[in-house]
Amino acid sequence: MRVLRRGDVVGLPTETVYGLAADALDPAAVRRIFAIKGRPADNPLIVHLHTAQELERVVATTTPLARALAASFWPGPLTLVLDAGDAVPAVTTGGLRTVAVRVPDHPVAAALLAAVDRPLAAPSANRSGRPSPTTAQHVATDLGDDLEVVLDGGPCPVGVESTVVDARGDQPVVLREGSISREDLRSVVGIPSGMGATRRPVDLTASPGSRYRHYAPTCALEIVAPEGAAARAAELVDTGARVGLVASGPVPAGVHGVLRFVDAPELARLLYAALRDAELAEVDILVVESVPEVGVGRAVMDRLRRAAE
Ligand code: TXA
Ligand code: MG
Repeated sequence: MRVLRRGDVVGLPTETVYGLAADALDPAAVRRIFAIKGRPADNPLIVHLHTAQELERVVATTTPLARALAASFWPGPLTLVLDAGDAVPAVTTGGLRTVAVRVPDHPVAAALLAAVDRPLAAPSANRSGRPSPTTAQHVATDLGDDLEVVLDGGPCPVGVESTVVDARGDQPVVLREGSISREDLRSVVGIPSGMGATRRPVDLTASPGSRYRHYAPTCALEIVAPEGAAARAAELVDTGARVGLVASGPVPAGVHGVLRFVDAPELARLLYAALRDAELAEVDILVVESVPEVGVGRAVMDRLRRAAE
């Protein structure tokens, strides 16, 4: 708390991934986040609040859509983009007139937000280009030398970053997939299935993060349908490569089993740790079994495709 009040940065668990948190309204503190992460200055940060009642501290206006989504999903892994209030410094929003806001659903994050009584800006606590951290150990591995404090809240229960939604209009526009799915959003705003949410072409200026190169593993990554994953891994072993497998079934002989998962939510929870494990095991190629693109499965496939690029 004192660390944050004097403008320092702490590693903070949330339900999605660990964040690198500092006072969102203090430009010097926020600049420190960018420096530690090695993040481009025009990629804005998410502002974290203790409760939805604090929204007025950081936005200029709310919308009926934002209020409906907040009422349904906060605290939780949903980030709303709204017009920024005057109190939010330009460094936090990457120079945009909008601000991304969420109320995290994690007891440690909630306790810290209540204690400091300040909005906290927090990107994922990885160095740029690394997978997001889902344990305190991941944060220490990436950024330990630059951080005085990493709060250990155990492994993150969701495992992929929040869903980012532009909530300025009357329909939600998904800027980043997360565990709050399009189906979940629809159930609140009553869009007929198959419409809305995806229709407006994604404007890259509205979603700065999507412009940047994401995590690129040190090994090749191949996404394979469930029925073919194990066979593909076995086939690759025959080429002499060191092959890793992330799949729901058994691991063929000669293949390094990285993760066996039962469903998409479990893969979401353990995916980033699995990618780090595959690197540590020095696999040449990682075969990952695909999951259906519904619910959190869409976010999982989005992250996998970016990693496979
Ligand atoms: O789950 C999460 O969202 C985690 C935890 C720590 O809360 N945070 C996180 O932050 O993933 P970060 O910085 O890694 O990703 C933030 C994303 C980026 O893609 C960024 O471009 C986008 O949100 N973003 C932030 N402000 C925005 C804005 N005003 N308009 C559009 N996109 C914005
Ligand atoms: Mg990130």
